Amino acid sequence: MALGVDTPEGRYEIIIEPGLLGRLGTELDRRGLSGRVVLITNTTVAALYGEALERALPEAAVIAIPDGEQYKALDTIRLIYDQFVEVGLDRSGIVVAFGGGVLGDTAGFAAATYMRGVSLAQMPTTLLSMVDSSVGGKVGVDLPQGKNLVGAFKQPKVVLIDPEVLQTLPGRELQCGMAEVIKHGLIADEGLFNEVLDLHQPPNWFDYQVQNPRPYFEALTRLLPRSIQVKINLVEEDPFEHNVRAFLNLGHTFGHAVEQASGYRWLHGQAVGLGLVAAARLSQRLGLCDSALVERVEAITQAVGLPQHLDDDLNPDAIYAAMSTDKKWRGGRSRFVLLEGMGKPTMVENVAQSDVIAVLESLK
Ligand SMILES: NC(=O)c1ccc[n+]([C@@H]2O[C@H](COP(=O)([O-])OP(=O)(O)OC[C@H]3O[C@@H](n4cnc5c(N)ncnc54)[C@H](O)[C@@H]3O)[C@@H](O)[C@H]2O)c1
Ligand SMILES: [Zn+2]
Repeated sequence: MALGVDTPEGRYEIIIEPGLLGRLGTELDRRGLSGRVVLITNTTVAALYGEALERALPEAAVIAIPDGEQYKALDTIRLIYDQFVEVGLDRSGIVVAFGGGVLGDTAGFAAATYMRGVSLAQMPTTLLSMVDSSVGGKVGVDLPQGKNLVGAFKQPKVVLIDPEVLQTLPGRELQCGMAEVIKHGLIADEGLFNEVLDLHQPPNWFDYQVQNPRPYFEALTRLLPRSIQVKINLVEEDPFEHNVRAFLNLGHTFGHAVEQASGYRWLHGQAVGLGLVAAARLSQRLGLCDSALVERVEAITQAVGLPQHLDDDLNPDAIYAAMSTDKKWRGGRSRFVLLEGMGKPTMVENVAQSDVIAVLESLK
């Protein structure tokens, strides 16, 4: 199954096929991507898939960086450049990024900047990176002062998705990716939203996964193209985030603030899951949508197992303070993506602080 993405620099494909990992070399060759191949992965993923990668790409140079957001940093980029020089990567070569969003952002930034840009293929291995970070061309690293402060737009030559690799992903990471899938449903695809809810019906998808994982992953594989298509549509319409692409920030103003206020104890997807509930409650409070929509968002995040409440030590004032440093709050004016209904996102500015605090209080 292939989806096309039109970008200002041309078109590339996203291929979604179980077993793609085993055919990685052939897939690159078929697209004429056959110069020096440098595969970048991390140590966790290498331990799981190193041998399969070696069989699929025997000639490739392999760079395995340490695992973790703290390595999405300029120091790592410097080490990657050293390796690029050492293995003789030049502008005829290609970088293959095999890992989650942290790896894809880091390896993608190295590829975007080395020799003013070498070709990049993304092979995302987490649910979040499959449906979100590998699509849209944003790459970059963090600074000690804040996340994603250094970056570039770098369109890949191809995105290769092998859904089979999701089977080794820790359940918590799968839940985090599901928060973004739910977000895509809320922004633009009610059918997708309903399918996610069906997939996570009782007793509980964790039990379901343990007892018989196969049907779960098969159904999940069918949802991937549908979720990715929502992001494709928005980035095609607005590649450099001047307008509608910002709808992808639904739940993220709350989410980023919760992540930050918790000292990054909360994972991004967990914070976004609760952020979606917060955005729905704020929408209702401002009279944009009815309570039925709020209940649907609460029901789906609960079914997936995402958090429903703030921890006791997270107080609304601290979260509001973190929110007001959001780089998207131009000139201190608050800015939220809210919902006028299912599939009807809207941008609202200058929301009163008291309304936001009231919503945060309701999440305790
Ligand atoms: N570029 C964008 O547009 C964009 C969009 C959203 C998020 N992001 C970025 O993505 C990052 C988060 O990505 P993520 O959620 O994928 O986290 P991640 O990359 O940290 O991966 C989560 C964990 O899963 C492990 N892992 C990856 N694939 C695995 C597999 N198949 N089996 C077992 N373990 C596996 C990783 O090693 C890691 O420990 C953040 O840095 C965020 O800023 C970027
Ligand atoms: Zn997100």
